[in-house]
Amino acid sequence: MNPKLVFWVPAVLRAAGTALLGLLSWWIAGPVPALTLVLVIVVAALVAQLVYLKQLGDWLNDPESIKLPDGWGAWTDIFARLYRLRRGDERNQAELTEWLARFRQAMHLLPEGVAIMDDVLFLEWCNPAAEKHLGLTLERDKGRRVTNLIRHPEFIDYIILGRYEQPLTLSIRGRKLVCQIIPFENRRQILVTHDATETERIEEMRRDFIANASHELRTPLTVVVGFLEIAVNDPGLDAATRKAHLSLMTEQAERMQRLIEDMLTLSRLESTDAPLKREVVDVKAVVESVAAEARALSGGRHDITVAIDGPDVMGSAEELRSAFGNLASNAVRYTPAGGTIALRWQRGEDELQFSVADSGIGIDRQHIARLTERFYRVDKSRSRETQGTGLGLAIVKHVLLRHGGKLSIASEAGQGSTFTASLPAN
Ligand SMILES: Nc1ncnc2c1ncn2[C@@H]1O[C@H](COP(=O)(O)OP(=O)(O)O)[C@@H](O)[C@H]1O
Ligand SMILES: [Mg+2]
Repeated sequence: MNPKLVFWVPAVLRAAGTALLGLLSWWIAGPVPALTLVLVIVVAALVAQLVYLKQLGDWLNDPESIKLPDGWGAWTDIFARLYRLRRGDERNQAELTEWLARFRQAMHLLPEGVAIMDDVLFLEWCNPAAEKHLGLTLERDKGRRVTNLIRHPEFIDYIILGRYEQPLTLSIRGRKLVCQIIPFENRRQILVTHDATETERIEEMRRDFIANASHELRTPLTVVVGFLEIAVNDPGLDAATRKAHLSLMTEQAERMQRLIEDMLTLSRLESTDAPLKREVVDVKAVVESVAAEARALSGGRHDITVAIDGPDVMGSAEELRSAFGNLASNAVRYTPAGGTIALRWQRGEDELQFSVADSGIGIDRQHIARLTERFYRVDKSRSRETQGTGLGLAIVKHVLLRHGGKLSIASEAGQGSTFTASLPAN
């Protein structure tokens, strides 16, 4: 119904009822009682309005704890509508609070740092990642100027120049941070920070690897090219010299071949689309063939023993064979003639171990942690003389990683070494 009618119809009816009652009592009891009756009714209605007004006022002062009365007449409707408004408000408030909590939590979990500043660069808010990246503490630094908090000349220049299309890379406390400012609303800006230390490190490793690999390939290539130039410029070379040159060239070509093969093996091991082939590995057969190869490489100059005292294992036979073979060939190459080499497969405390113990030249403590880095060698020329590529232990480490195992190295200069490959026992 029309709200005007809802209000006016009962009001008019009530007024008409009062007048009718007045007229009726006039007719029965005369004018004085009738007028008194009407006066009493009017005063009572007035008092009721005043009481409800007072209650409304009280409620408006403290809507939380005071309940709205049911009211009478038009008040019933007014109070009901106020009550509905209030309920709607409460629901909105609850929804907003919930949203805010969800938003806060998302911001907490975000790995990117987010800081909001006003137009004069005063910090308004930031998430924990921004605190960590920039060394801020929201509670302490809120309301302080960001350029006073991040006192990096490059950062300050970035802000002053205002060329925000490009991100800025900063080195802060040993970490690489990519920062970008994004203006928003009309006078606020968001500072977003991203920790790029790890990406940068991987990028650097890649660069190093390419530089090292190129360098390793260039050396034999230079030798080959040198001999080829001699052959071209000096066709009258005697047969013996020519033969000597050819054999040196072959040696260098083979070295390049070994390098490239090892690099391909490493990249195959690293690539995620070559998952581990799991099969039951006949460890006895693998270790025995590794020993046979080591004996061939040694040519009888070492005493090589084999002890098999553990069960078979799940994994890739081919990869394990290449890892164990690398350890055994290192032992042969870094042990002077007359030394001993012991290959052993055994149960450890809660893993299975393949160990190679030699009585060779050993390794100085400072080198041990770096041996599995690509191209890291204690003695470059010795490694090359014995056909090393510097990638063997990197391959071993990768194979073990793929099998959930690890490599440990115990050695002392001049005292021999023990390389132990541990594999999970399942
Ligand atoms: N059994 C060992 N005894 C002494 N030094 C070793 C032994 N095994 C490896 N090394 C050292 O670790 C370096 C890295 O080994 P590796 O990655 O297999 O490369 P390489 O091709 O030179 O053998 C070697 O150059 C050598 O200095
Ligand atoms: Mg090696």
